[in-house]
Amino acid sequence: MQYRVRDVAIDPGLVLAPMEGVTDLTFRRLIRQIGGCGLTVTEFIPARSLASEIPQALGLAEFDPDERPVAVQIYGNEPDVMADGARLVADLGADILDLNMGCPSKKVCRRSGGSGLMKEPALAREIVRAMRAAVDLPFTVKMRTGWDADHRNAPDIARMCEDEGVDALAVHWRTREDKYGGTLDWSTVAAVKAAVGIPVLANGDIVDVPSAVRALEQTGCDGLMVGRGAMRDPWVFRKIEAHLAGRPEPVVDLAERKRVLLGYLDAIRPNFRSDKGVLGRFKAIAKHFTDGVPNGDSLRPAILQSKSIEEAVEHVEAFFAA
Ligand SMILES: Cc1cc2nc3c(=O)[nH]c(=O)nc-3n(C[C@H](O)[C@H](O)[C@H](O)COP(=O)(O)O)c2cc1C
Repeated sequence: MQYRVRDVAIDPGLVLAPMEGVTDLTFRRLIRQIGGCGLTVTEFIPARSLASEIPQALGLAEFDPDERPVAVQIYGNEPDVMADGARLVADLGADILDLNMGCPSKKVCRRSGGSGLMKEPALAREIVRAMRAAVDLPFTVKMRTGWDADHRNAPDIARMCEDEGVDALAVHWRTREDKYGGTLDWSTVAAVKAAVGIPVLANGDIVDVPSAVRALEQTGCDGLMVGRGAMRDPWVFRKIEAHLAGRPEPVVDLAERKRVLLGYLDAIRPNFRSDKGVLGRFKAIAKHFTDGVPNGDSLRPAILQSKSIEEAVEHVEAFFAA
């Protein structure tokens, strides 16, 4: 499975979803090293901060020279500022510019950013148009299926995006009101796929081969985007890729899982000024990672309750030695 965002080939058509506080450069490197992922996306970055070249925003937009193709995602609610943000993304040398129309957070939505834009189609169009006019870069939009169950307008927004020159879309099956709950329903994503000619990615609760196969069957989408499933199982892309290509899925033994988990911990150490920061980030990943490990139920609370990095490492060592 592969698709193109205009001239950029995404092969395989499996994309690591942007996740604030997770998909920083270190996590994306981990996923790239394991393989099977055709595109990585930065965490969302406020267009205003990026356009003003605030160091923290520039840091979020950083990618490795060989992290290709890579998309930088921005959000905001002012067309001219979004256009400035888009220009900065192009200047940074990203392959793809991505607009966040999916974030459910109150703070972002209150100012008509993220999924708040889906409630304001006229403003959404203005923003997409301004960004499109600002850069020649391949341009994608990530959205939810709508604001709530009564307003699943993703097919309309998708058509608008296509009309305005967007090159591909990713659609999370949930509405904004679903937040991270709701009952899995791919029908609106399928409706988006049917409504437009540009590639569409299905997103939401794809965590393994069966859920990936179901999403493809039920939506007819061109590719898949995986977020939390990649924290649970960083090999998920390779497994899905192998399955779709008719190859046996890679088998990951416990020694490899341990190596990756502790390797990740080492890799994030320089990213934080305090051990507390390192431990916090490690816990955020480990709570999902332990879901993908047999008997992870006993490791998870041990890591989450650890008061120091050393204690967390001891728990990991003891668990994998058992
Ligand atoms: C911790 C976390 C942070 C997220 N941050 C972003 C973000 O910065 N930009 C974005 O478009 N979506 C963000 N999302 C949404 C994901 O990209 C994805 O759409 C959602 O988690 C559903 O996919 P999944 O079930 O595969 O995780 C975030 C999700 C999580 C769990």
